[in-house]
Amino acid sequence: MFILGLQGSPRKNGNTDTLLAAFLEKAAAAGAAVHTVQAARAGVTPCKGCGYCETHGTCVIKDDPMSTELFGLLRQADMVVAASPVYFYGVSAQLKVLIDRCQTFWSRKYVYKLKDPLVATREGVLLSVAASRGRQLFDGIQLTAKYFFDAIDARFSHALTYRGVESKGAIRSQSRLAEDIEAIIEKSVRPMVARKKILFVSRQGGCRAPLAAAMAQQRYGDRIRTAFGGRQPAATLSVPMVQAMQKIGLDLGYRTPLAMDKAFYGISPDLVVTIGTTDTEPPMAGVETVNWPIPNPPGMEEAQMEGLRLDLGNHVDRLIQWIERPSP
Ligand SMILES: Cc1cc2nc3c(=O)[nH]c(=O)nc-3n(C[C@H](O)[C@H](O)[C@H](O)COP(=O)(O)O)c2cc1C
Repeated sequence: MFILGLQGSPRKNGNTDTLLAAFLEKAAAAGAAVHTVQAARAGVTPCKGCGYCETHGTCVIKDDPMSTELFGLLRQADMVVAASPVYFYGVSAQLKVLIDRCQTFWSRKYVYKLKDPLVATREGVLLSVAASRGRQLFDGIQLTAKYFFDAIDARFSHALTYRGVESKGAIRSQSRLAEDIEAIIEKSVRPMVARKKILFVSRQGGCRAPLAAAMAQQRYGDRIRTAFGGRQPAATLSVPMVQAMQKIGLDLGYRTPLAMDKAFYGISPDLVVTIGTTDTEPPMAGVETVNWPIPNPPGMEEAQMEGLRLDLGNHVDRLIQWIERPSP
């Protein structure tokens, strides 16, 4: 399981930073891989409101960290934790820059009708602090989080909000803090960590492996977590494959092939599926491995992609036997 934390306060070691770090520390101890993005120092360009994503499905800004890295991390995440202080009843400007750029995901979802393979299981968690104590203190931030999580295909599952937290470190004296965090770890993190993990490996991890991983994830929902990797990873996914998946409504945009040992963030899978007729060596010692002898399609025409999808789909169907087998 991979958790992406978005830290929205510009104050280093401030209350938001401390709250998010405490949550991620507990999640890591429960077995999750975690990563924090400091919004104030991420160098993300604000949305231009140009409408390009609504007509092209991608963001017009191609060369900033949002496009080159953060869109990809948001797609890989099983849980996105948005953490922000209340600033004038909203999220901080620094976090809002990242959120607004997710209009690209909104367009992919609502204009292009695409679904991320993790849509059934991804969760969104809001963490927030504020100095005052008014009844509606977190209403604005809750609404922003609701629509942000919807755009990134995450279910808004938990919110931890703390009033009367102002000076640096004040969050530490919240008596419920440890208990509140533990409740989320128990309810959401542990079940996600416990899912069976299947790693799909093809030569370059750019066509067959992502296709199989996405179909298996969609088919088996919360019973498994899939990832894909390459023995010699390509720089990008195969464009005809991504287009073929879009035809069945599955979104593989903003995903890139990873080296197979990085695909699960260093966590060992329960099953490796190697796809190919030549590179059939088990890539990971001590991990159960099966081979699907499916060659790369001879060309990248639409019909060939369709054939590959059907062939891999049949194999994915038969995975159910492994999924239903009791764990040793
Ligand atoms: C620009 C700005 C706007 C703020 N607006 C509010 C507000 O509307 N309501 C409130 O209760 N606190 C407000 N605060 C206080 C912060 O939410 C509070 O100090 C918080 O603990 C800061 O979190 P941090 O340590 O993570 O930066 C504001 C602080 C700043 C700097």
